[in-house]
Amino acid sequence: MILVTGGAGFIGANFVLDWLTQSDEAIVNLDALTYAGNLQNLASLTADPRHIFVHGDIADSTLVAGLLAQHQPRALINFAAESHVDRSIHGPEDFIQTNIVGTFRLLETVRAYWNGLNDETKQSFRFLHVSTDEVYGSLAKDEPAFSETRRYEPNSPYSASKAASDHLVRAYHHTYSLPVLTTNCSNNYGPYHFPEKLIPLMIVNALAGKSLPVYGDGQQIRDWLYVKDHCSAIRRVLAAGRVGEVYNIGGCNEKPNIEIVHTVCALLDELRPLPTSHLPLTIPHLPLTTPHSPLPTYRSLITYVTDRPGHDRRYAIDASKIEHELGWKPAETFATGIRKTVQWYLDNQSWVSNVQSGAYRTWVEKNYQERG
Ligand code: NAD
Ligand code: TYD
Repeated sequence: MILVTGGAGFIGANFVLDWLTQSDEAIVNLDALTYAGNLQNLASLTADPRHIFVHGDIADSTLVAGLLAQHQPRALINFAAESHVDRSIHGPEDFIQTNIVGTFRLLETVRAYWNGLNDETKQSFRFLHVSTDEVYGSLAKDEPAFSETRRYEPNSPYSASKAASDHLVRAYHHTYSLPVLTTNCSNNYGPYHFPEKLIPLMIVNALAGKSLPVYGDGQQIRDWLYVKDHCSAIRRVLAAGRVGEVYNIGGCNEKPNIEIVHTVCALLDELRPLPTSHLPLTIPHLPLTTPHSPLPTYRSLITYVTDRPGHDRRYAIDASKIEHELGWKPAETFATGIRKTVQWYLDNQSWVSNVQSGAYRTWVEKNYQERG
């Protein structure tokens, strides 16, 4: 069996669900259920004996040591993290605690377990650390995409904490020979994405007739990967990645934020057209049409707001290593992935309303009120 941490969050839950459709190998899923962890994401597994959920913290060494001793996993995949840049700007402490201290404790506990394995299981054991392209910092317009040898230049408390965790993982390989793998992936999107991040926020705000807050000039560029492609890349790295190596994962889909928002609006215009008869209640003064569209369009809800402090201008991933070494390539284009994503949110409105709890509303007020 394998042990997954953070498997109730966005990528972790997609990973667990995908894994169990492709394999009968059981998963122990350790998750602290922070605001971002949601057992509803795993509701389809409630009666599935191959999924064992454990509520707890990766920094709880006693708990983790007990799980390792009891279940003897052949691998651990570490998704658990605080993951939102804006929250890291408002309150970095949780990021230091989970992403740095938590990863350190996990490495220590796993090292003790691994040291006690017999030679064969010791050799085949893997610690796969899931990380982000944000550790590399920001690219100028014409700079080549991030390769695995790019210097680390993290710019936000989030990316700095992930960079620290990557360095710890690297050090545990070099110093203690722990068989680690690290993946650095670009921006994911898809089902179960918490609506604090750009794409799900735009979808849920548009459907509620709320403004679509674009930071700064909206020209910041991200590389977007459909979450299930990220999951297939992780499976591939786990199966065949070379110990101690880093693999960048990306979608070859560099797009400015404003283009992403326009695409979401166009899909909603097609799949859930705005009524022609009345204006959205929350912003009654906005005309529903734009100079580009005589018909009502969600684009009319776009509002430019104060930029994120220290906002990275561009991320881009050179994914040639994983493609050439491990034969991995994304299956979805942005056009197919974003259509599936918008449709998923339309089909799962009760999931959306359930995650929009009081805590979510407090965050939205905190983050957007001061942007004007
Ligand atoms: P998420 O915020 O949706 O989920 C994180 C999960 O970790 C939640 O279920 C949460 O409850 C859990 N968790 C948090 N602290 C914990 C702790 N101390 N112990 C145990 N569980 C804890 O994040 P995500 O978007 O699914 O990201 C997963 C991983 O992938 C993160 O490490 C992130 O840095 C990385 N990543 C994310 C993206 C992206 O676009 N979302 C891109 C590249 C890499
Ligand atoms: P986000 O989804 O938070 O991911 P990350 O910061 O990790 O890339 O943001 C993606 C981009 O969208 C980023 O450039 C910030 C921008 N953005 C907005 O313009 N408006 C928003 O309300 C949010 C949440 C993000």
